[in-house]
Amino acid sequence: MKLATARQMKELDGYAIHTLGISSLLLMENAAAALAEEAAGCLMNPGERIAVFCGGGNNGGDGAAAARILARNGAEVRLFLTGDREKFTPDLKEMLARYETAGGEPEEFIPGDPECEAWCAGASVLIDALFGIGLNSPLRGRPLAAVELMNRLKVPVVAADIASGVESDTGQILGAAPKCVKTITFTYPKIGHFCGEGGLLCGDLRVAGIGIPEEALSRIPDKIFAVDDEDTRELLPRRRRDSHKGDYGRVLLVCGSRDYTGAPAFSARAAVRTGSGLVFLGVPASIHGIEAEKNDEAMVISLPEEEGKLSPGAVPVILEQLRGCDACLIGPGLGRSEGVSAAVRAVLETCRVPLVIDADGINALAGNIDIWKRNCPVILTPHEGEFQRLLGRPMKADRISQAREFAQASGCILILKGYRTVTALPDGRVYINTTGNPGMAKGGSGDVLSGMLVSLLGQGLSPERAAWGAVWLHGRAGDTTASEKGEYGMTPTDMIEAIPKATMQY
Ligand code: ACO
Repeated sequence: MKLATARQMKELDGYAIHTLGISSLLLMENAAAALAEEAAGCLMNPGERIAVFCGGGNNGGDGAAAARILARNGAEVRLFLTGDREKFTPDLKEMLARYETAGGEPEEFIPGDPECEAWCAGASVLIDALFGIGLNSPLRGRPLAAVELMNRLKVPVVAADIASGVESDTGQILGAAPKCVKTITFTYPKIGHFCGEGGLLCGDLRVAGIGIPEEALSRIPDKIFAVDDEDTRELLPRRRRDSHKGDYGRVLLVCGSRDYTGAPAFSARAAVRTGSGLVFLGVPASIHGIEAEKNDEAMVISLPEEEGKLSPGAVPVILEQLRGCDACLIGPGLGRSEGVSAAVRAVLETCRVPLVIDADGINALAGNIDIWKRNCPVILTPHEGEFQRLLGRPMKADRISQAREFAQASGCILILKGYRTVTALPDGRVYINTTGNPGMAKGGSGDVLSGMLVSLLGQGLSPERAAWGAVWLHGRAGDTTASEKGEYGMTPTDMIEAIPKATMQY
C-alpha cells in the first residue's frame, strides 16, 4: 500500500486544483462527506450529539463541512473553533459560511468552560479536525486544550486525515494528540498512521478518495509503502510437483557460541520451517553436540573455536562451506571476539550470494569495518541498539529517514527492527511492516526472523522482496501465535511452529 508524505499530498492537491481545475471546495466537500459518514457510523441513532473541533486551516474546513452534513442528517451538532479567525484559510471561511447558512452557529472554544465540557461529555462522537498534514509545530493554547479535553472525556474520537498533534511524516507527537477510534484519511495513507505514537493513536484507518483523478495519483512516487495482505499475496514461490530439495536453496547459517546455544537453533529451525531445501548450520565445535541434538533437519558443521567462540581458524572452513550455497546468514549468538570479527569480515569480503548479517555479526561490523566493500547483496537486521552501534552515534528520532539514509549511503538493505519494522532499500524505497505484536518482544524473535530471511533468499526471492516479505511473514507467524497462546506466554519456538500456518496460503 503506497503512502504519501505531507509535501507530496500538498503538491497533489495543488496539481488537482490549479492544473486540473478541480475546485478545492469540491475536494473538501468530498473529504467531509467521508468524514461525516465515519462519524455517523459511531451513532446508535441519528439524533445523538456530535462535537466538532475545528482548527484554522483546511483540516478545520473538512470539519466544518462535515458538521453541516451531520446536522442536516439529524445529529445534534456543535462546532468549536480553536484558531484565530483573522488567519482562517479562505476555504475554511467558506465552509463556516455554508454551515451558518444551513442554520449552524460556530462557537469559540473556551478552555475549561464547564458548560462546553459537560455537553461534550454527553456526546456520542468527537470529531478532531484541528490539524491535518499541515501541523508544523507542537500544539499550544486552545488546540492543545481541545486535545486534552478529548482525551479526558470517555467519548470516541474520529480524526479527519490524521490525529491532530501527530506529525504526518514521522508519527511523532508534537505536544499532544487524541487517542482516536477511527481516522478517515484522504487519497493516500500517511507514514504517521503507521509509525511512532501516531500508529498507536489512529484507531481503525479508512482511506477515502476525494475526487482526484486516477492519472494524477501516479504523481505520488512509489517510494514509501506499508506492507499489507495485498502486497504479500504472491510472496512465496509455488512449489512445483516435480521439484526436489535442490530447488529450494542451500543456505549456510553461521551462528552460536558456548554462551548462546538457543540462537542457532531458532534460526535454523525457522529456515527449515520457511521452506529451505537444505540448511547447513556452522557452530563453534564445543556446541556441535547441543545443536545436533536440537536440529534434526539441519546439517550441523563444527567450526574451529577459542573459548567457546569462533576463532580465526574458522574462516577457511566457513568459506569452503559457502561454496555451493545460495544464501548465507552470519551473526545470531556468535558473541564478540577477534575470531568472530575475522569471520564476519571474511564472509563479507568473499561471499558472492545474498548475505544476512544479524546480531553479533552487526556488532562485529560496528565502527571499524567497511561494509561498502563487498561482492554480494547484504541485508543488515539491527534492532535500534545495534543500529546505533553500527552508526557509532545515537539515532535520530525519525527512524524512517535515518534507515533510508543509511541504506542509500551503504548500498545495503537495512531492516530496522522494532514496532513497525522498517525495511530500507539502497534506491530509497522504504517498506513499513504492519504485522506483529508485543508478544514477539522476547529474546530469540530476531533469530527466527533472520532464519526466515535467509530461507527466502535461498529460495530465490530477490533481496528486496525477501527482506520486507520475511519481516511481514515473521509478524504474521507472531500474530497467529499470539491469537493461540496469548502475548505473555508465547515463545520464539511457538512462532517457529506457527510459520507453516502463516505460509499456508501460498
Ligand atoms: N499551532 C498553530 N497553528 C499551526 C500549528 C500549531 N501547532 N501547526 C500548523 N499550524 C498552522 C499552519 O501554519 C497552517 O497554516 P498556514 O497554511 O497558514 O501556514 C495550518 O495550521 C495548517 O493546518 P492544516 O489544516 O493541518 O493544514 P492545511 O490547511 O494544509 O490542510 C488538509 C490540510 C489538506 C486539509 C489535509 O489534512 C486534509 O484533511 N485533506 C483532505 C482533503 C482536502 O480537504 N483537500 C482539499 C483542501 S484544499 C487545499 O488543501 C489546497
